[in-house]
Parts: sequence; structure tokens; C-alpha cells
Amino acid sequence: MPPNEIEVSARRGAPEQTDADTRVVGLFADEGPSDAAIAPLFEIGEAKGGLRKVAVAHEQGPDGLRRVMAAGLGKRDEFDAERARVAAAAVAGLAKSLGARSLSWLCPTQGEGIAEGLVEGTLLALYNFDDFKSKSDNDDESSDDQGENDDEDEITKLEIVNPDQDLAERVDRARTAAEAQNAARDLQNLPGNVATPTHLAQCAQEIASEFAGAGLSCEVLDRAKIEQLEMGAFASVAQGSYAEPALIVMRYDGGGSGPHLGYVGKAVTFDTGGISIKPSAKMQEMKFDMSGGAAVIEAMAAIASEGIEAKVTAVVPSTENMPSGRSVKPGDIVTAMNGKTIEVNNTDAEGRLILADALCYAVDQGCERIIDLATLTGAIIVALGSTYAGLFSNDDDWYAEVESACDATGELGWRLPLHPEYFELTKGQYADLTNASDTRKAMSIYAAEFLKQFVGETPWVHMDIAGTAWGGTRNYVGSGASGYGVRTLIDLARRAS
Ligand code: BES
Ligand code: MN
Ligand code: ZN
Repeated sequence: MPPNEIEVSARRGAPEQTDADTRVVGLFADEGPSDAAIAPLFEIGEAKGGLRKVAVAHEQGPDGLRRVMAAGLGKRDEFDAERARVAAAAVAGLAKSLGARSLSWLCPTQGEGIAEGLVEGTLLALYNFDDFKSKSDNDDESSDDQGENDDEDEITKLEIVNPDQDLAERVDRARTAAEAQNAARDLQNLPGNVATPTHLAQCAQEIASEFAGAGLSCEVLDRAKIEQLEMGAFASVAQGSYAEPALIVMRYDGGGSGPHLGYVGKAVTFDTGGISIKPSAKMQEMKFDMSGGAAVIEAMAAIASEGIEAKVTAVVPSTENMPSGRSVKPGDIVTAMNGKTIEVNNTDAEGRLILADALCYAVDQGCERIIDLATLTGAIIVALGSTYAGLFSNDDDWYAEVESACDATGELGWRLPLHPEYFELTKGQYADLTNASDTRKAMSIYAAEFLKQFVGETPWVHMDIAGTAWGGTRNYVGSGASGYGVRTLIDLARRAS
């Protein structure tokens, strides 16, 4: 079992009948303890019902003393799936630091998404990325909560207990989703010299061969093929880089009668800005500019592994954005796959260029509802921070579906407007469009208006995830790579089935 992998199960029966070294019981604010083992802690005021509060008691278990954690859940009528994730993450953090190996969570209510939230919150909170850290000999002394990779110290089991309802299927789904999200975080975290477009393409191909029997396949188009398809916008970004670009196409047919979904994810494996080069401060974070693509690829794996009855085509344009002697230059005019001409006035507005052709391709493939995920604009971080992704749409019904999926998964999104006056800003001086203007007005909406030119009449939602893909404060994903979007994409496929 690779590190970070946790065996997850559901059990019916009494909470005490567990062989876990730590059992967890919830405690609602303004209510007394429901479990005798935490009653004394409650009496002395140590166990509290506030969300994220965790207190630890001990009791006699089958193999000696074991922990009983009192997990604060907040008020009962405010408790929901998101709060379950938050509470589970708080528990997981403390349990890990106390050296727990196995957790048994008593599901606090029968509410929708609660059991799932406990699984997701735990698995997401226990994620860490230390593939590139050497193993130290004296892990014990150097152990802090981060950067540890000694399997001995890890939580390897999670059990969700429910006395009278079988949660196995729901728990299993939540595990698949959380593992897919963690896999996307792994891809995000890889440095740009490892996670090249070719590497992402290989990952997608491996996933497709693993789930070939479930109806998943993968096709990778190289530079020559991209040029041959007249994806002049995508090709112009890729032309400056020695690394081979890839248009990664994953096709999943799980049957069903729902609409053909198109998932498009920006995967710039490193964004220097190109000739319009970025300042060096924090430029290393631009290895995360492939976060949309990572979410799409790993969501496809989960959708296929669950055998969801839906038809989904994933289109992931992947390239580096580099300055070089053959880079696209400010003022260059390129032609996208649908014939629209674009003045490249800022080579750092590369995401919209590669997405332009990827969206055209998704439409050509017959996708009937399209969603794209892209770390597209710094401006969306200014507007919405890391709490909400920016959502944009040309279709209220498809938008409503996406919004429901966001709400259900806790991957929040907030809609911003489109308007013909914003579209005016995107018109070029010498070509149909310009990829950037110097007005600095409504820069995230500008980008969305630009993308809209490549989807025709197809219902489409654009998610600008520049603020949510990493650097947030949600306690169950922390401040690093978040894998934002994976759970929403899985949920959307399920809704379409
Ligand atoms: N990948 C960036 C957007 C970004 C910036 C994501 C910071 C996360 C953190 C994108 O390619 C970009 O450079 N956008 C420019 C567009 C501008 C030149 C019109 C931006 O937002 O500054
Ligand atoms: Mn850029
Ligand atoms: Zn970018």
C-alpha cells in the first residue's frame, strides 16, 4: 500500500465494537455528550461542541487503553456535509499527531452527505506530498506534522460506524472521490520538470488502460497533429517551448441517456508568461497552472472506476509557456480552429489561447454541455479570494446544474456576469479578437467573454480556479494544492446519468 492510502470501510453495529485505536464521537454545541466515555471531559469543560474543537478521553478497549475523541460539530441545525468535512479534518490532524493508526467515526446524523463528508475530510486532511524528500533516519526526533513519511506513524484505517443503516456504498463513493482529488493534488505538486505535457499524457493513458474495460480510452495529439487540426492559437503558445505539447483527449462512455458532457482543463505545465515574462516573485507557483487539467484527468478516472452511466469527453490542452527565439510575440496574429483570428497582445494571457482551440475541439466532438476549469486570471483572486471559484456561463440551465454540484461538494463557485459591453473589450485592432487589452477592466470577465467565442451555441460554464486551485484556507485541504474541481466533475457526471 503506497503511503497516503487509507483503507476505508463502513460498519453497522455498536460504536464500542471496534478494534480501532481511536474512536470518534461527535458533540453538538449546546447539547450534552451522547457517549459515556466523554462525559467526564464534558463535565470539566474540556470537550466542547464548537466546530473544529477536539478533546481526547481514554477507555478500556479490546487491546488495552484506546482513545475516544470528542469532535465538536457546531450547532445541530447548522450541521451539513461541509461541516462534517471540517470536523473530520480537525480530528484527523490531532489523531495523526497523537500517533493514531486507525479511526472509527460514529456517523453523527443520518443527514445527506454526512458520512461522505467524514470520509472526504479525513482523507483530504491526511494528504501530504513528500515524494521528493529524502527519508531521514531519525524521523522520531525530526517529526513535526509536516514532511513526515514514515509509514509506521500513519493512519491506515478509517471506519464509519452507523448502528442501523448500511453506508458501505456511500462511503465507498466518497473514498473514490477523495482519492481522485488527492491524485490530482499529486499531479499539481509535481514540479514542472517532471509534470511535462508528455508526463500528463502518459498518466492519462495509464488511467485509460486501467479502466479500458469500463469504457475509457485516451488519445494524445502531438505538435504535428495540433498544427494539422489548425489549432493555431494552441500551437502559438506551444511554439516557444522545447517540450512537446499534448492535446490529451479522454473518452468515456458509460451508457445512459444523459447529454454528452465535455470537460476541458487548462494544463500549462509551467507559465513563465512567455515573452511578456512574469516577475520572478512566486513564479515557482506557476507549476500549478495545470490544475484544471489535473482535475479533469483524475475526475475521469473516478467516473470510470465508479462506472457512472454517462458519456464524457475530456479535452486537456497541455504545454509550457516559455520565452525563446521561436516564441509567439506581442502583436502576432494567430488563427484558432474555428477560423477566428486573434492578436496576441500579451503572451502571458496564454490560457485563453490554448482553451480556445480545446473548446472548439470539444464542440466538434459533439459535446452537448461543456465545462472548463482553468487557472485563468490573477484578477479572480482579487475578486473572490480562495473561497469561491469564478463561474461564467452562456446557459442558465447548465449553470444551475453546475452550481448545485458545487454546493453539494463544497467546492464553491460564484457567478459573474457576461455582457456585450465586456465583449467589446475583446475586439482586436487588426484581428477579430485580442487576447488581452491594457484597459485592465473586468479582467476575469474579459477572459470568459473571449472563451465564449469558441463554444458557439453549446451550453458552457467556465470556472476560473486561479484562486481555489491552491493557497486557500479550507482546513481539510490546507494551503497547498487543493485538487479543486474533481468532486464537482464527478458529481456532474452522476447528475447527468
Ligand atoms: N496562469 C495565469 C493566471 C494566474 C495568475 C493564476 C496568478 C494563478 C495565480 C494566467 O496565464 C495569466 O498569466 N493571466 C494574466 C492575464 C493577463 C496578462 C491579461 C493575469 O491574470 O495577469
Ligand atoms: Mn499566463
Ligand atoms: Zn497561465
